[in-house]
Amino acid sequence: MFSSSFSFLLLASIAENNTDPCLQKERCSECITASPLCSWCTEEEFAHRRCDTYRNLEKNGCNDAHIYHPRNEYEVTENFELSVKAAKESDAVQIKPQRINLKLRPNSPRKFPVQFRQAVDYPVDLYYLMDLSKSMQDDKEKLALLGDLLASEMQRITSNFRLGFGSFVDKVAMPYVNMQPDKLLEPCTGCVKPYGFKNHMPLDTDTSRFKARLGGIIKPNDGKCHMSGGEYVASLDQDYPSVGQIHQKVKEYDVNLIFAVTQKHFETYDQLKSLIEGASAGVLKEDSSNIVDLVKEEYQKITSVVELKDNATSDVKVSYYSSCVGDERKETAECKGLHVGTTIDYDIVIEVLKCPENPNERNQTIVIKPSTLSDQLIINLEIICECDCEKEWNEEKNSAHCSGFGTYECGICSCHSNRYGDSCECDAKNLTQSEQEKLCKYRETDTVVCSGRGACRCGKCKCDQRIDMLIYGDYCECNNLNCDRGGDRALICSGNGVCDCGECKCDPEWGGRACDCYLNSSICISPKSGLICNGHGDCVCGRCQCYRSDNNTAEEYTGQFCDVCPTCPTKCENFTECVRCQQWKTGELSEDECILCPFKVIPVNELDVYEDETYCVFMDGDCKAEFKYRQPNLTEDIFFVTVKRDKDCPVVVNVFLVVIGLIIFIVLLGLLLLLLWKICVIIHDRREFAKFEQERQNAKWDTGENPIYKQATSTFKNPLYGK
Ligand SMILES: *[C@@H]1O[C@H](CO)[C@@H](O)[C@H](O)[C@H]1NC(C)=O
Ligand SMILES: *[C@@H]1O[C@H](CO)[C@@H](O)[C@H](O)[C@H]1NC(C)=O
Ligand SMILES: *[C@@H]1O[C@H](CO)[C@@H](O)[C@H](O)[C@H]1NC(C)=O
Ligand SMILES: *[C@@H]1O[C@H](CO)[C@@H](O)[C@H](O)[C@H]1NC(C)=O
Ligand SMILES: *[C@@H]1O[C@H](CO)[C@@H](O)[C@H](O)[C@H]1NC(C)=O
Ligand SMILES: *[C@@H]1O[C@H](CO)[C@@H](O)[C@H](O)[C@H]1NC(C)=O
Ligand SMILES: *[C@@H]1O[C@H](CO)[C@@H](O)[C@H](O)[C@H]1NC(C)=O
Repeated sequence: MFSSSFSFLLLASIAENNTDPCLQKERCSECITASPLCSWCTEEEFAHRRCDTYRNLEKNGCNDAHIYHPRNEYEVTENFELSVKAAKESDAVQIKPQRINLKLRPNSPRKFPVQFRQAVDYPVDLYYLMDLSKSMQDDKEKLALLGDLLASEMQRITSNFRLGFGSFVDKVAMPYVNMQPDKLLEPCTGCVKPYGFKNHMPLDTDTSRFKARLGGIIKPNDGKCHMSGGEYVASLDQDYPSVGQIHQKVKEYDVNLIFAVTQKHFETYDQLKSLIEGASAGVLKEDSSNIVDLVKEEYQKITSVVELKDNATSDVKVSYYSSCVGDERKETAECKGLHVGTTIDYDIVIEVLKCPENPNERNQTIVIKPSTLSDQLIINLEIICECDCEKEWNEEKNSAHCSGFGTYECGICSCHSNRYGDSCECDAKNLTQSEQEKLCKYRETDTVVCSGRGACRCGKCKCDQRIDMLIYGDYCECNNLNCDRGGDRALICSGNGVCDCGECKCDPEWGGRACDCYLNSSICISPKSGLICNGHGDCVCGRCQCYRSDNNTAEEYTGQFCDVCPTCPTKCENFTECVRCQQWKTGELSEDECILCPFKVIPVNELDVYEDETYCVFMDGDCKAEFKYRQPNLTEDIFFVTVKRDKDCPVVVNVFLVVIGLIIFIVLLGLLLLLLWKICVIIHDRREFAKFEQERQNAKWDTGENPIYKQATSTFKNPLYGK
């Protein structure tokens, strides 16, 4: 319960904040930059909110031609197909499209597709720059060999391959002395060894001589090219370029630096590479034999990755989406694992977050390009921050629309400092604006003037005019819609009255908050009795409300007119004698009395009882007799009594015979049971006897003798007897 009500509150507050971004935007530029949904009505006579959704403005009667609603525009102006094979660098098209014109409103993102594909044979220029400060002599031959190998290897990757070579040693000046112990003895073959101190230049007024000796560490590098006859000539004038300068040049010319250095220096360059875009570092063997592999490897590393970069300002957000090489689609500018010829599909979303404060930045050129390549997509972006009608040449100074006290533009007046009001008709000298606004507030705590449905003009509300509702009242606090609804169709005031500032004013004969109560009680008059609710109830809003009684025995009426009373005493008993004598000539009444009965029965074969009829039943002797009657209504005074022609008499049964029969039945049943028992016993006995006989015959008598038994007779033999 708690959580559900909590989330409801949360939703409600969001809805409150978010429903209407166009609310209270007083100027056209404010309006169109608030939300892409907002439009501005420039129509002269327009009493409603000028900043609203297009549909609302239209609904409120702003002419289509006067609704300013700039839309995003997207136009591809250069769209060459991607190259399969590049002949020259300038020919290769690796990004598509190449040029786009965009016109965007703030907070209204625009998505468009961009394709990238690395061309086969994309030109590669490799300039091989070598530090020869110590090893020129020993590596010269090897180098010539490697250069050849490098060229042939690279030609396998691309046939557009150019190789250049350069070398450097050091500034031929202080303080660039090699401090390695062995080189201190002999910096290079045939050189003299460095010494501790030698005075080359005695104290002198010519200070420029000293500057020349200092090898240009005073003057910073100007980042320009100082080459003459293949040699760098500013070596002694300027300092070495800084890492920042190198980074900038590398970006400018889309150069990929590869530092091929020995293991000893690798760590230094490994850190350095992170400071320079697109740079990489690899370990070179002492004899430089792996330079070809290194270059090839680094080249492949560089070309297997593409990362799109842009130079948009912070007011413009550029997002990249891609599935790269068949992965899941996600937000990423970088794709890895590329091969020559793989096409990468990007979706680029450009959103203007807000209008740039600097008006010059409202038109800007954004360049999107792969970080290491020179291909680029140029976007001419125009940010819509201003309405056309606000342009200087479209505004009307001291306009008659503004009582001559303001500038008229976009359908509204910008008033001079002491003036305000829709047409600058109010003078701030009479009342300050806040005082005026106070007069326009329904309650003092209100944040909006005129209940948010009108404009405050010099302390008086001018209510909005709307098609769907009427707004009125001194503070525009009234409208003709906020009344109770009722009836089957939930109409305002049930359709039986008019809504006046939250209250229903009902038509005659109608009442209640929503005019849903019919007051004319003639509708409740019972057609039978001519009484309102048959005299057993009140007529409430056109319906009978029958009286309720407190005890069970009381008459309880129901029905449309309180005319049905299932619990009321009936006339059944009173009619019984008349029905008896008329239909069957039985009962207590004599023939003369019978004639006085207030009705004449109508005999029928089957008795069907309808709603307004009463069903009666009585016992005439042993027989059930049924009849029904109908209450007399207003126009007639007699009872209609209908009787079922035949009574339901029970079939007479001879009780004596039934009893005798029952006794005989019981006796016979007893005898039968006895017989059955007897037969069962006989059968059982016979079986037992047969079994006994069988066992007797089968019996084997034990022939053993009791060992302690001694026969009573003894037999002696006379030994002499025999012969
Ligand atoms: C982006 O770079 C291009 C070319 O270098 C430049 O013309 C443009 O003014 C830059 N855009 C921004 C917003 O800096
Ligand atoms: C911006 O560009 C549009 C056309 O592309 C042009 O009409 C407008 O004057 C430019 N705005 C600014 C401030 O340069
Ligand atoms: C301001 O006051 C002056 C004099 O009191 C009056 O003539 C003028 O009409 C008032 N202006 C407004 C806008 O009420
Ligand atoms: C009530 O309605 C009847 C017709 O249904 C009408 O003749 C009568 O005048 C109405 N009574 C009142 C008080 O309006
Ligand atoms: C209860 O019933 C009796 C008779 O049936 C009646 O006279 C009496 O008014 C009833 N009491 C109430 C409170 O309706
Ligand atoms: C029945 O009849 C008796 C007298 O004949 C009379 O007093 C009584 O009101 C009658 N009952 C009904 C319900 O008509
Ligand atoms: C009264 O009853 C008679 C006979 O059933 C019927 O024709 C008549 O329409 C009834 N009158 C009313 C006002 O219901």
